[in-house]
Amino acid sequence: MKGIFGSQTIHLSEVDSTNNYAAKLVSDGLCQNGAVILADFQTKGKGQRGNHWLSKKGKNILMSVVHHPDDLPVCEQIKFNWGVSLAIISFLQDFGIEAQVKWPNDIFVHNNKIAGLLIENQLTGYFVSSSIFGIGLNVNQIDHNLKGVTSMRKEKNATFCLKSIIPRLVEKLNYFIFCEFNWLKEQYESKLYRKDKDAPFEDADGLFVGKILGVNKDGSLKLSRGNKIKEYGTKEITFRIDL
Ligand code: BTN
Repeated sequence: MKGIFGSQTIHLSEVDSTNNYAAKLVSDGLCQNGAVILADFQTKGKGQRGNHWLSKKGKNILMSVVHHPDDLPVCEQIKFNWGVSLAIISFLQDFGIEAQVKWPNDIFVHNNKIAGLLIENQLTGYFVSSSIFGIGLNVNQIDHNLKGVTSMRKEKNATFCLKSIIPRLVEKLNYFIFCEFNWLKEQYESKLYRKDKDAPFEDADGLFVGKILGVNKDGSLKLSRGNKIKEYGTKEITFRIDL
């Protein structure tokens, strides 16, 4: 394994949440920079916006990666969201799965979600002192009780050996997390779901048709609506399927 991520691996059969477990290890000073925490099953998997992350035992990748960056200013913390998203997309591409990122953090194949990430940063003054990259990637599960969900198996009609593919995802993190801020922004923008296409959205003023143009350096979404350019933070806009 080349690079810091994966220098230590902890594999649990069951845990509440790998992100919580990793956070405790960090606060107790009990893990290395770059530690990878894996679980077969989570009893309280955490998703974005307080949602639960559900995953059948042993079917999917449930992973948290601990990172202690050197001198990353708080204003650049969004680079981890971009880097982790691109790492997952590049990993999937190696298996012939073309994925995109539905802003800000959902990894989509066509119109279905294949992976999600939950990045939790600890800040000390102006710097990010530690970050936990939580990744939930649907691999071999086919029976999801939710609409709009896919997995590698569903996409390729094949099963995957988790033990052999996980190091390939870690390797991608070892590359993308250390790439330069502006390059990551550009690459992330090139992978944005619905970029440059008229599509339906909803904001506080109601439904409208807009076109995603890209993101700002703080991670907010840039969208054109008629002849205006609008900017949105998370929770300020919803992607709609129809008007
Ligand atoms: C999302 O809502 O899309 C984010 C999902 C993140 C889930 C992963 S699974 C491993 C890690 N541990 C957690 O409790 N959550 C993340």
